[in-house]
Amino acid sequence: MARGWFDGRVALVTGGGSGIGRATALGYAAEGAKVVICDMDCAAGEQTAELIRTSGGEAALIECDVTEASSAEQMVAHAVERFGGLHVACNSAGTALETPEGEWDEDVVRRVYEVNAFGVLNTMKYEIRHMLENGGGAIVNIASVEGLVAQPGSPGYVGSKHAVVGMTRSAALQYVNRDIRVNAVCPGVTRTPLVERTMEIPEYKETMLAMCPSGRFAEPEEIANAVLWLSSDLASYVNGHPLVVDAGFVAQ
Ligand SMILES: NC(=O)c1ccc[n+]([C@@H]2O[C@H](COP(=O)([O-])OP(=O)(O)OC[C@H]3O[C@@H](n4cnc5c(N)ncnc54)[C@H](O)[C@@H]3O)[C@@H](O)[C@H]2O)c1
Repeated sequence: MARGWFDGRVALVTGGGSGIGRATALGYAAEGAKVVICDMDCAAGEQTAELIRTSGGEAALIECDVTEASSAEQMVAHAVERFGGLHVACNSAGTALETPEGEWDEDVVRRVYEVNAFGVLNTMKYEIRHMLENGGGAIVNIASVEGLVAQPGSPGYVGSKHAVVGMTRSAALQYVNRDIRVNAVCPGVTRTPLVERTMEIPEYKETMLAMCPSGRFAEPEEIANAVLWLSSDLASYVNGHPLVVDAGFVAQ
């Protein structure tokens, strides 16, 4: 049921070509937003854009590598140029490159930090810069339950997601009086291509199944719904909050 939460607004989604990002992009569009999909995988991003257009919405794809600050800057500039503004953003681009063999491999951990932590830093920086000069906005970063609690053998992913929660809180406090809200969503295990890849590693499969008190993974739309609410005016007093969507895993 569409409620028109984002009628007349422009939404940007990094990692919008797949999984949680795609579900969020479709959700923003269903609620009336014009949606800019940013992804390094252009074919996947274009598929999301096409899904939106086929449902009668407006969408554009922008190629972006969030690990590069210059790419993030151009992404925001192109988004504004394409649809004339930027009011809400969901930063979902992320990776889980670790393998049990590579868990303390400096290069692997560095890459995970570059995508998950610096990727969010780079995109937030330019989203906020635009919002500061144009009447504010709302940003939702996709962290993880592993941004709040840890799993053994995952220094890159757990560390980078704790960083996302930390920088969300810091930005939220910095801009609270400038009409910008910054929140995070912390999903539990969600049925996406990222998880399908991780399930191929026996050690991680066991861990992920143990993280589901309801006996099933979340659907990407169940995470997107939380992002939509946090991005909307209904959450006008919610700021710096890491909203857990995990069927109760961290409540244990
Ligand atoms: N699936 C889960 O169980 C789960 C749980 C908690 C948190 N998360 C987080 O949710 C977010 C989305 O994950 P997903 O499961 O939808 O994964 P996914 O692999 O399905 O989608 C990730 C998207 O990000 C894009 N991307 C990756 N690196 C990029 C880069 N450098 N620049 C631009 N785009 C890039 C990919 O091309 C892909 O389209 C990630 O931040 C992930 O850590 C996922």
